Amino acid sequence: MDRILIQGGTPLSGSIDISGAKNAALPLMAACLLTEETLRLRNVPSLVDISSMARLLRQLGVAVEGMEEDTDAGGVGGAISLDAAGVGDTFAPYDLVRRMRASILVLGPLVARFGEARVSLPGGCAIGTRPVDLHLAGLAALGAEIAVENGYVRARAAQGLRGGAISLPFASVGATENLMMAASLARGETVLANAAREPEIVDLADCLVAMGAAIEGAGTERMMIQGTDRLGGADHAVIADRIEAGTWAMAAAITGGCVELKGGGPAILQAALGKLADAGLKMEPGDGRIRVGLASGRVRASDVVTEPYPGFPTDLQAQMMALMTLAEGCSTITETIFENRFMHVPELCRMGADIRIDRGSAVVSGVSHLTGAPVMATDLRASVSLILAGLAARGETEVNRVYHLDRGYERIEDKLAACGAVIERVGG
Ligand code: EPZ
Repeated sequence: MDRILIQGGTPLSGSIDISGAKNAALPLMAACLLTEETLRLRNVPSLVDISSMARLLRQLGVAVEGMEEDTDAGGVGGAISLDAAGVGDTFAPYDLVRRMRASILVLGPLVARFGEARVSLPGGCAIGTRPVDLHLAGLAALGAEIAVENGYVRARAAQGLRGGAISLPFASVGATENLMMAASLARGETVLANAAREPEIVDLADCLVAMGAAIEGAGTERMMIQGTDRLGGADHAVIADRIEAGTWAMAAAITGGCVELKGGGPAILQAALGKLADAGLKMEPGDGRIRVGLASGRVRASDVVTEPYPGFPTDLQAQMMALMTLAEGCSTITETIFENRFMHVPELCRMGADIRIDRGSAVVSGVSHLTGAPVMATDLRASVSLILAGLAARGETEVNRVYHLDRGYERIEDKLAACGAVIERVGG
């Protein structure tokens, strides 16, 4: 298994190209199932999760081509073409779905276009049980017959889906995405209340509209979707990854450096902006780029509560905690989205952090410095918080099980080394 070695203490400086957003690209790839025409996606990040989704789509009969370098999207990502004309199978097996939970996003498109689907329940992961009950209840409200048996969801709609009124008890990102895609091919109008509002939701809606869908209110808590009997192909560029951008902004701050984030404008840090400013970061917006670094002196303590968008993103919680370990003062970080998203805490403490868990909150008392140590990655964002801590720590940090990182960060050591970090990947 690969490991990453970091010699800490170098302030980052330079520029980083922000890749296309993993959490936008995955639902966009699933959307290809809604049409027999070709869907072309640009600025797609080269990540393990993207490959996993491609493998599942191929298993269903989708022709997936590309991932060559793509310059006309402005990003540095790859372009892929997805052609679901030949889909003959609506069965998504456990051994593929278990690799990547977002595989559940094929369920809505499959049952909407083919009238049936049998998709493995994705199961939980390190950060929580990750149920899909809201996805299933929403599809049932659109007329699908849902049965859960032997670890699989069987959904049927022999007469096709019909529009309906759905109110999500929680603004679930995945449930919103599955239901947007399903409703796009349902007969009649669907009103989706308490919909998730993330930028990735808006990006999916933009692509679906380009494919011929009629969607209003994307990005607000109430979405109206007028179903149509068929959708066409489209050519769509994936938005920049706001979580990657927020991660590198904190990497700059924790090392006392300053970096330029290219590929997403000032809005890319929107949901974290207030807390980053509270912590003492200065952000200088530019055309399609933003310079970030510490305004002066030491990071300031700042309390954080994770919330659905536009609140502080849960996907930046672990990174913010790493930053707060060196802050002047004490901060409280409360995780409200997932039930087990503090696994970075014991590893950060092994590096000298002072963190105490008090029910759903972590109380972080800033220390003067961290020391390098061998640490264990447990999930995608916990892993990158250890990378951030290692960049600032005295001495060498060895991060093990970096396959977690490769799921969500493209060429992480290359991007950081280009900004002066002393970092290398060691195979074996
Ligand atoms: C998406 O996961 C993201 N993944 C996650 O990013 C992100 O953390 C999450 O949204 C929240 O922003 C992708 O987009 C591929 P949810 P998703 O449905 O859709 C509960 C990363 O690091 N819930 O909004 O699974 C659920 O258990 C990943 O890139 C139900 O109870 O998130 C969780 O506690 C991690 N029933 C909460 O809602 C359901 O049917 C948020 O889940 C669905 C969700």
